[in-house]
Amino acid sequence: MEKFLIKGPCKIKGQVNISGSKNAALPILAATLLFDTPVIIKNLPRVKDIDTMLNLLSSLGSKIQLSKNKKIVRISKTSKKRVFASYSLVKTMRAGILVLGPLLAKFKKAQCSMPGGCNLGLRPIDIHLNALTQLGIKYKIIKGYVHASAKKGIIGKKIKFSKISVGATENSIIAACLGKGKTILKNCAIEPEIKDLTNFLNSAGSKIKWIGKRTIQIEGVKSLNSIKYSVMGDRIETGTFCVAACLSEGNLIVKNFNPKLINTELNLLKKVGAKIKTFKNEIHIKGPKKIKNLNNIITKEYPNFPTDLQAQFMVLLCKAHGRSTITENIFENRFMHVAELRRLGAKILIKENKAVIEGSTNFQGAELMSSDLRASVALVLAAIISNGQSIINRIYHLDRGYEKIEKKLKKLGVDIKRVS
Ligand code: EPZ
Repeated sequence: MEKFLIKGPCKIKGQVNISGSKNAALPILAATLLFDTPVIIKNLPRVKDIDTMLNLLSSLGSKIQLSKNKKIVRISKTSKKRVFASYSLVKTMRAGILVLGPLLAKFKKAQCSMPGGCNLGLRPIDIHLNALTQLGIKYKIIKGYVHASAKKGIIGKKIKFSKISVGATENSIIAACLGKGKTILKNCAIEPEIKDLTNFLNSAGSKIKWIGKRTIQIEGVKSLNSIKYSVMGDRIETGTFCVAACLSEGNLIVKNFNPKLINTELNLLKKVGAKIKTFKNEIHIKGPKKIKNLNNIITKEYPNFPTDLQAQFMVLLCKAHGRSTITENIFENRFMHVAELRRLGAKILIKENKAVIEGSTNFQGAELMSSDLRASVALVLAAIISNGQSIINRIYHLDRGYEKIEKKLKKLGVDIKRVS
């Protein structure tokens, strides 16, 4: 098993190029199942989840041709047509459930493994299945697999999601693209990655219109055209590096990301004292000498503060002067990083979905265990500003969603080594 050795404290200085967005690329890759002609997707991040999604598409009969640097992929149809998404692939990456919608729209049937829970909680797919049922599918769950069929194909319908769900919104959009008639989806998630998906589908000839803040209208079309599409930059990677600069009194230029998409986070970093200048696709951020505390960061759906940056901000607030609180509203169990941060000296109290963070922590290096993707990167951030050496185990969690993170950090002045 590989681990990171990090010697702190270090200051983040220099420039970082943000990779393509994992959470935009995954639904876009799943949507390539709708196409009869080749599609080229560019700016893919080199992360494990993308490899898993490409393996899943290949198991469903797609032909995958990757460029040398693996950032561009050409996906085309073969004569093979499979509708079985296996547990072995879906269990390692929940976004595997996103092939359900396109398989039903294209082939009118699918056997897709339930993604199962994960560290963050149960993570059911009831909202996905409820919406797809209203779009005309029937399903049974047999031995952990969703056996679904859409005899008459996807039929356009007016649907209101009972709860805002990124994945359920994406599955329904993709399914409705080839549906018969008009679909209206209300109470949609509106993360930028979903807008990237609808831009991708529209550039291939879909008829998708945002007709309200959280309402989408989709007029089904017969088929989609071949296109080349470049995926947007990664919003959470951008936020993570901005926190790293803020945490370490650093001086960082973040390139390849539109700062307008992370206003909420940048405003919070300004509130703790960071000096931030933004440009078209660039952020210049200087960390403060004294980090101010924040009262009640609350994670909610976009455009509010994202759950995927909660762990990273918690590390920042451990260094703030004074007490701060964080409320986690999206996942029922997203404080796995707390026990590990306490090993570095953090003073954090958890009460249900609330964390109370005492500031002015003087982190001392220790041996740590990664758990989920974002909790793991929070441990990296804490190790960077700890006194002495830290060891971070099970960094395969990190490799799922951060491209060459140790190379990027080393270039910014961090003493980090990957060892097995
Ligand atoms: C997406 O997961 C992201 N993953 C997550 O990022 C992100 O944390 C999450 O959205 C919230 O922003 C990808 O885009 C691949 P949801 P998703 O459906 O779609 C409950 C990362 O680190 N729910 O919006 O699974 C669910 O349990 C990952 O990159 C149901 O109850 O999130 C959760 O509590 C982690 N029933 C809440 O809704 C359902 O059918 C939000 O889930 C679906 C979801």
